[in-house]
Amino acid sequence: MEAMAKDKVVIVDDDEFMRDSLLEALTRPDLQVIGFGRAAEALDAVSDGSASLLLTDMRMAEMDGMQLLQEVKRLDPRLPVVMMTAFATVETAVQAMKHGAFDYVMKPFKAEEIDLVVHRALEHHRLLTENEFLKDELAKKFRNADFVGKSPAMKVVFEQIRQVAPSSATVFIRGESGTGKELVARSIHAQSPRRSHPLVKVNCAALSAGVLESELFGHEKGAFTGADRRRIGRFEMADGGTLFLDEVSEMDLHLQGKLLRVLQEKEFERVGSSETLAVDVRILASSNRELEKGIEKGDFRQDLYFRLNVISVDLPPLRERRADIPALVRHFLDRFRLEEGGGVKDISDEALDILGRYDWPGNVRELANIMERLMVLGRGDVIDAAQVENAMPKSAIRPDAAAPASAVPALGTAFQVRTLDQVERECIQNTLRHFGGARARTAEALGISERSLRDRLKRWQEAGLIGEV
Ligand SMILES: Nc1ncnc2c1ncn2[C@@H]1O[C@H](COP(=O)(O)OP(=O)(O)OP(=O)(O)O)[C@@H](O)[C@H]1O
Ligand SMILES: [Mg+2]
Repeated sequence: MEAMAKDKVVIVDDDEFMRDSLLEALTRPDLQVIGFGRAAEALDAVSDGSASLLLTDMRMAEMDGMQLLQEVKRLDPRLPVVMMTAFATVETAVQAMKHGAFDYVMKPFKAEEIDLVVHRALEHHRLLTENEFLKDELAKKFRNADFVGKSPAMKVVFEQIRQVAPSSATVFIRGESGTGKELVARSIHAQSPRRSHPLVKVNCAALSAGVLESELFGHEKGAFTGADRRRIGRFEMADGGTLFLDEVSEMDLHLQGKLLRVLQEKEFERVGSSETLAVDVRILASSNRELEKGIEKGDFRQDLYFRLNVISVDLPPLRERRADIPALVRHFLDRFRLEEGGGVKDISDEALDILGRYDWPGNVRELANIMERLMVLGRGDVIDAAQVENAMPKSAIRPDAAAPASAVPALGTAFQVRTLDQVERECIQNTLRHFGGARARTAEALGISERSLRDRLKRWQEAGLIGEV
């Protein structure tokens, strides 16, 4: 950061004389003014989001002021654009205001006039930026109270977070889907000295290799087809802060090599550039599958694994820490009551017992979803057992699992004795139906491999216990 941040003002006018007199009029210690003769150049100059104001002439060859305005609004909607126009085009100036121009000035104008409009536009931009920043901070603000856990297993996790947060060590966060890996990442960042800098997240599973590469490292204009302007990557955005590489196991081998280099040397190049950039970024990475298997198969580089796995935080699945369920239920009850403004205030002990016995293949996220559903559909003050039974995939309730509360609920009159094999069959069939026959999702939800699902279905089919699936 410089001692005094200068506001960058970009001027575009194809009339050189006009440009020069504006540059002169705006020579002030708090401004960095750059002039261009073509709209395309100005667009390029504002594309990285560093400008605070754009002053543009209306009539220009190639791209005119109006087109420029529209491009800019797409790129950086907060950037105030002031149109400069001659008398004859007042109509167009009005049109420009409709398209989001901040203001317009008519040529020829006096120095005071342009001073005033620049002052107002910069003030406007400053407020918008501050506002955005505050909103962002608020949204990102992480309250530890939002991270619930009473079980011994979660106490260990909280303690690990407390210990690793102050350093810049890479942390590898492991756990099934929905166990709270992102919360761990946010918590580490929020308790670290980097907390006033950004926490930037990249989901490595959601993007194709090429897109992910330029997302991480940025690219130069012209680096590839479609790269019509420079773009800074997540590593640069996270400078001074933390970069969370979500689902890092899904990254392809080529990119893994590039990532390894940044981890080792703290430097990289934008795609299409030979300029080496240095960054100070702390890395957090997550994976919901066992990376060790990926390494065996050659899908994941072992050297990268060692680099990432300096310290690991393991989140146990919810079914292995059922003691957390009641506290989580109350937490979501409070959260969704605020969000949805529903009238539901409480949950009955029996209802809580049912929740405590379910296996939660989708972990805390699944519990959150069910609680939200119960709040939205809930009638009356208290959620009861019947409502919970309705909201949940019944097949998966485990009557034998240890309930968090001491009382084991009475078995209703509807209870039927069945063999475990029957229960398993029904459970699998219901889950399959629930996912519209999608085997991969069914297997994942049930916590078994696709192969073992296929084997079971085949066995039952051959035994004539189930129909075509
Ligand atoms: N201990 C917890 N306390 C409160 N809320 C939690 C807790 N764990 C998870 N959640 C909530 O459950 C949801 C899923 O958590 P999160 O996104 O952190 O899981 P994840 O492990 O990153 O899942 P995935 O692997 O699918 O990305 C979020 O809405 C999160 O706020
Ligand atoms: Mg996640």
